[in-house]
Amino acid sequence: MAKREAILSVIYDAWGGMHPGAWRHPDAPKDPAMDFQHIKYLAQTAERGKLHAFFLADSLAYALEKDPQVLSLTSNVARFEPFTLCTALAMATQHIGLALTASTTYSEPFNIARMFASLDHLSGGRAGWNIVTSTGEAGANFNGFQPGRDDRYKRASEFYDVVAGLWDGLEDDAFLYDKAGGRFFDPEKIKSLNHKGEFYQVEGPLNISRPPQGHPVICQAGSSPAGLAFATRVAEILFTYGLDLEASKALYKEIKSMAAANGRDPDHIKVLPSLGIVLGHTQEEADAKLAQIDALADPQIGIERLKGLIDYDLAPHDLDGPVPEIPQTQSWSKTMQDYYLGMAREQNLTVRQLSLMAMRFDAVAMSAQAAADHIENYVVNEAADGFNISFADASGSLEILVDEVVPELQRRGVFRQDYQGTSFREDLGIPRPSARPQ
Ligand SMILES: Cc1cc2nc3c(=O)[nH]c(=O)nc-3n(C[C@H](O)[C@H](O)[C@H](O)COP(=O)(O)O)c2cc1C
Repeated sequence: MAKREAILSVIYDAWGGMHPGAWRHPDAPKDPAMDFQHIKYLAQTAERGKLHAFFLADSLAYALEKDPQVLSLTSNVARFEPFTLCTALAMATQHIGLALTASTTYSEPFNIARMFASLDHLSGGRAGWNIVTSTGEAGANFNGFQPGRDDRYKRASEFYDVVAGLWDGLEDDAFLYDKAGGRFFDPEKIKSLNHKGEFYQVEGPLNISRPPQGHPVICQAGSSPAGLAFATRVAEILFTYGLDLEASKALYKEIKSMAAANGRDPDHIKVLPSLGIVLGHTQEEADAKLAQIDALADPQIGIERLKGLIDYDLAPHDLDGPVPEIPQTQSWSKTMQDYYLGMAREQNLTVRQLSLMAMRFDAVAMSAQAAADHIENYVVNEAADGFNISFADASGSLEILVDEVVPELQRRGVFRQDYQGTSFREDLGIPRPSARPQ
C-alpha cells in the first residue's frame, strides 16, 4: 500500500521569523514585511519545493507587545494587507495555494465573498480563506466592537453561510458570451440570496462569476469547543496547535469523527498541526542558530508578551529568580496560561527562561533529517495529514526545508513529486463544490 503523503504549508510571517531576535540575525533580510521582492522570493522558493500552500497570517491590531519601547525592539509592526499582497503573489507564482487570513468579526460577508472570488480568478483557482474570528485587541480599531467567543463563532457561522451562499448563487455556466445570439449571461443562472439572518442581511447576487474552485479552500484554526464545532462543519484544512504524538493522534481522530458526524467525508478535512522550527543542515547548526537569535532578543520582549499570555506582569521579578506562584485568572486564553505556567512549574524555570519560551513561540531547533522524521512519524501514524510550518528565524530555514527536507520526504515516499491538477483544491484532493440550488 502506498504511504500516506504529507500536506505541507508554510506560514509567511511578516515579522521575518516568529522569534523577536530573528530580524537581527546577520543573514536576515533588512525589511521582512514590506520588501515585496523578498516576499516574492519566499513564495517562489516554497513553490520550488512543491509545497501546497503559502499561508498568510494576519492581525487587525498593532502587535502582541503593546509597550512602545518594547515594541520598538521587535519587527512585528508593519505588514501588508493580505488580499493586496496575495494578488501580487498570484502574479509571481503558478501552482502554490495562497491561503490568507480574513476575519468574520471585522468584515462584511459581501466584501469577503467578492474579494475571495476575485483572488480565486486572478490566481487561477489557488485561493484559500483562513477564517478567523479575531481574538486580541482588534476591537479598539472597529468601534470598540469585541463580542465574546461563543458569539464570535455564532456570527462566523452565519457569515460563512452567507459567503458560501453568494458564491453558490452563481452557476458555472451563467455567462454565455453569445455574440451571435446577443446574450451575455443567463439571468436564470445568477440567483439572489435574500439572506435575512440574526446578524446579516444580504440580498446578492455577487457581481462576479463563480470562483474557479467553486469555493476557495476553507481553512480554520478554532481550538475551543465553539471553534472546533465550527471548523469541523466548514473547514477543509484545520490548523491545530503542535502537540505530542499521542495527543495529536487523539485530536486527529476526534476531528475526523466530528466531521463525519456533520455528514462530511473525513478525508476532506485535512488536519495540519503547527510546527515551529529553526532548521540547520545538522542538529548542531540548528541549535547554534536558535541560541544566536535567543541572544539577540531582549528578555523584556518575552516578559511583555507573557503579560498577555499568562495575564501577569513578571517585570518586577528578578530575571534569574524562579517564576513566582501566579493565580489562575479569566484571561483571554486559559489554554495559554495553563501551558506556560505548567511549563514553568514542571521545569523549574527562571523568569528569564520562561521569557525565552514565550519568545520562541514553541519553536524547536532541528536538523533536516530530524524534521523529515518528525513529519513522517506524524503523517504515517495518523496524527496529522501534514504540517503548517512556521520558522523562528528568517535566515535559511525555508531553503533547508525546500532543498533537504522535501527531497528526503520524497525519497521516503511521503511527499509527492509535483503539484496535482491546477487548483489548490485539486492539489489537496478535495472536491470542488457545485452550486447549490436555492
Ligand atoms: C496555525 C494558526 C494560525 C493562526 N493564525 C491566525 C491569524 O492569522 N489571525 C488570527 O486572528 N488568529 C489566528 N489564529 C488563531 C485561531 O483563529 C483561533 O482563534 C485560535 O486557534 C483559538 O481558537 P478559538 O478561537 O476556538 O479559541 C491561528 C491559529 C493557529 C493554530
